[in-house]
Amino acid sequence: MQTILEQLEQKRELARLGGGQKRIDAQHAKGKLTARERIELLLDEGTFEEWDMFVEHRCADFGMQDNKIPGDGVVTGYGMINGRLVFVFSQDFTVFGGALSEAHAEKICKIMDQAIKVGAPVIGLNDSGGARIQEGVASLGGYAEVFQRNVLASGVVPQISMIMGPCAGGAVYSPAMTDFIFMVKDSSYMFVTGPEVVKTVTHEEVTSEELGGAITHTTKSGVADMAFDNDVEALLMLRRLYNYLPLSNREKPPVRPSKDPIERADLSLDTLVPANPNQPYDMKELILKTVDDGDFFELQPDYAKNIVIGFGRMDGHPVGIVANQPLVLAGCLDIRSSIKAARFVRFCDAFNIPIITFVDVPGFMPGTSQEWGGIIRHGAKLLFAYAEATVPKVTVITRKAYGGAYDVMSSKHLRGDVNLAWPNAEIAVMGAKGAVEIIFRQDKGDPEKLAAREAEYKTRFANPFVAGARGFIDDVIQPHETRKRICRSLGMLQNKQLENPWRKHGNMPL
Ligand code: HXC
Repeated sequence: MQTILEQLEQKRELARLGGGQKRIDAQHAKGKLTARERIELLLDEGTFEEWDMFVEHRCADFGMQDNKIPGDGVVTGYGMINGRLVFVFSQDFTVFGGALSEAHAEKICKIMDQAIKVGAPVIGLNDSGGARIQEGVASLGGYAEVFQRNVLASGVVPQISMIMGPCAGGAVYSPAMTDFIFMVKDSSYMFVTGPEVVKTVTHEEVTSEELGGAITHTTKSGVADMAFDNDVEALLMLRRLYNYLPLSNREKPPVRPSKDPIERADLSLDTLVPANPNQPYDMKELILKTVDDGDFFELQPDYAKNIVIGFGRMDGHPVGIVANQPLVLAGCLDIRSSIKAARFVRFCDAFNIPIITFVDVPGFMPGTSQEWGGIIRHGAKLLFAYAEATVPKVTVITRKAYGGAYDVMSSKHLRGDVNLAWPNAEIAVMGAKGAVEIIFRQDKGDPEKLAAREAEYKTRFANPFVAGARGFIDDVIQPHETRKRICRSLGMLQNKQLENPWRKHGNMPL
């Protein structure tokens, strides 16, 4: 008996050592943690249940039959984050560069299947040289098996990818299909083709970091949601994000009771919006003053900054927040912001997270680059996402809600449940100046007359009461009571039931 136990411990020790101390040291020298150290930081202490520690690859080419390491380059299993179940895989760069073999893929698929079955999220910690070159097509098959599960799990359980090393070639498409991507600065990169191929094909000279590093993907491409300085910070932030998410689409998001009173009035909000309609202000101030304890988890903070998205809590319940940001591009909707917000709205809707929308939008962004880039198709994504969403939707118009953008931003017409406006809101086809220039073109040469027309238009349309008279907004509220009114609305909506007609799936403009 003793020898069997000793043998077991020896086998475990071998698996834990991965590619050996030298390679572990090399990993540390790059500022990276090992696969197991990452899991330890991510999960609650002592909760990790490892599976498939003894799995080995089955490759017999290129001398691989004599080169087997138990676990085969990925650590998989389940554990807890703040007492809530999660499945996790963590690629071990010290074992064949974390490259994905058929067996490695089977391990990932096993926990994904189990996660879908029991209804718990999957977190992937990616650090891999890609397809295991010695295995050829068996490895490609393995990737496709993972891709298939990413798709089947989408909208069923939250999926989060943390890129903590290389992630290149077709391998990028697994994280790409998950709900959130986090990256670590300087040590991670994602690209479909690397710098050498780029140089050969397009003659561009670019480093890995420039081509697909964390800064690139959180500012230029929008592929990743957040960039962190190191592994530790990234994993701790991932734990924070996890607290907002339900385990699956069958559950409600986790409630965290708050001491922040629902009734808390913030008088400074009464002067947040400047009198001059062309002067910007920071919409994030409103968000921070509205959510519980000023705690807002912003996603994609450095990409398409003209729209702000992220999670907060109201009366302890997680909410998704979408807000136009007048500080950037006057809060216009453009291609990037429409896509950014649309995907977030769909995540919230899939996972029973109510959506709060703060509106100050002068319209869609004009220009050839937007039109030729397909703003028609991309803007429609946000419209589609809001219209399709059946979760509770509460909207507050703080200033401008012009034209088609008024319709898009969770309007009453798109089944907005509670639509409120601040007293100075302007809900109209367009701003007074633009409107007068069109409908009173004959007065073009008469500035006095134009000014009078503009004043008349403002009185008639640039206010919330025309929409109020039609019931398109439910009430005009004082800015300082925004938190209270939203909390009450969400309380009223807690048992909302709404279903879309049966269909295989819609055909959102992609
Ligand atoms: C097998 C691999 C490997 C791979 C790395 N290794 N990548 N083994 N298959 N894909 C091994 C190395 O041989 C080495 O083994 C160890 O991992 C560490 O690699 P190094 O090169 O020493 O590390 P580093 O200098 O940090 O460079 C990392 C790297 C580089 C940039 C990832 O290894 C690299 O370019 N690898 C090849 C990447 C690649 O072309 N992959 C296939 C892409 S196609 P030893 O024993 O020396 O420690 C693809 C398609 C997926 O992935 C398709 C999905 C549909």
